[in-house]
Amino acid sequence: MLVIVNDTYDPMSKEAAKLVADRLRKKPNLVLGLATGSTPLGLYKELIRFHKEEGLDFSKVTTFNLDEYVGLPPSHNQSYHYFMNEHLFKHINLDPRHIHVPQGMAKDVDVFCSWYEQRIAECGGIDLQVLGIGANGHIAFNEPGSSLGSRTRIKTLTGTTRGDNSRFFKPNEDVPRYAITMGVGTIMDSKELLLLASKTGKAEAVKAAVEGPITAMCPASIIQMHRSAFVFLDKEAASELTGMYNDTWESKVFA
Ligand code: GLP
Repeated sequence: MLVIVNDTYDPMSKEAAKLVADRLRKKPNLVLGLATGSTPLGLYKELIRFHKEEGLDFSKVTTFNLDEYVGLPPSHNQSYHYFMNEHLFKHINLDPRHIHVPQGMAKDVDVFCSWYEQRIAECGGIDLQVLGIGANGHIAFNEPGSSLGSRTRIKTLTGTTRGDNSRFFKPNEDVPRYAITMGVGTIMDSKELLLLASKTGKAEAVKAAVEGPITAMCPASIIQMHRSAFVFLDKEAASELTGMYNDTWESKVFA
């Protein structure tokens, strides 16, 4: 695991974007796993800039999103599909046929989840998976207690997560109770992981994930078992860490 600490959110996002761009330049048909939440927005903004100003080409890229709320169609402005369209997809030259986001309106969720796993495998597996982290240590919507070997499935969201996410919904709107999410095992099968965390609200979760015991009570802690995980932090998110993390990703990436 390589932990890269930047002073603030912007340089953290830019460093992370350099890693994605490097992988994409090396493999134009990259299979890229994507995350929602506010944290990856800076990374997506920088990727859009690379595309517009430097011609970074996404035309052969295939994407798989981590998760989606059950019951929200892509047209709903709080669905993760809508979020991805607004913040990334419509600004770059991805082929819409190569975009995969779990279907919150799937008639048979179990059938859909098996298909999603199969589709990832058919595409050769995920090369690089972008991840955020929940304040309770969740990754995607794998809440504490999720099996560390789990695959794509439906999950019930905890009160903490629903509370954290309620800020995006109107006061009279119900925050969804269920989500379809890649499993922890699905995420761990990715060839590389890129986890981002910013601000003090994530410091405890980052400490548990990076330096705590590997436990289903902090699903993000499983990244300690991954052979190629990059953790991009700002100083606030890194504030509870006790290890020395002064490495740079360039030395490893271009070695
Ligand atoms: C949601 C998403 C996660 C994301 C988390 C943190 O729960 N399912 O994938 O990591 O939010 O979001 P934020 O980056 O807004 O703190």
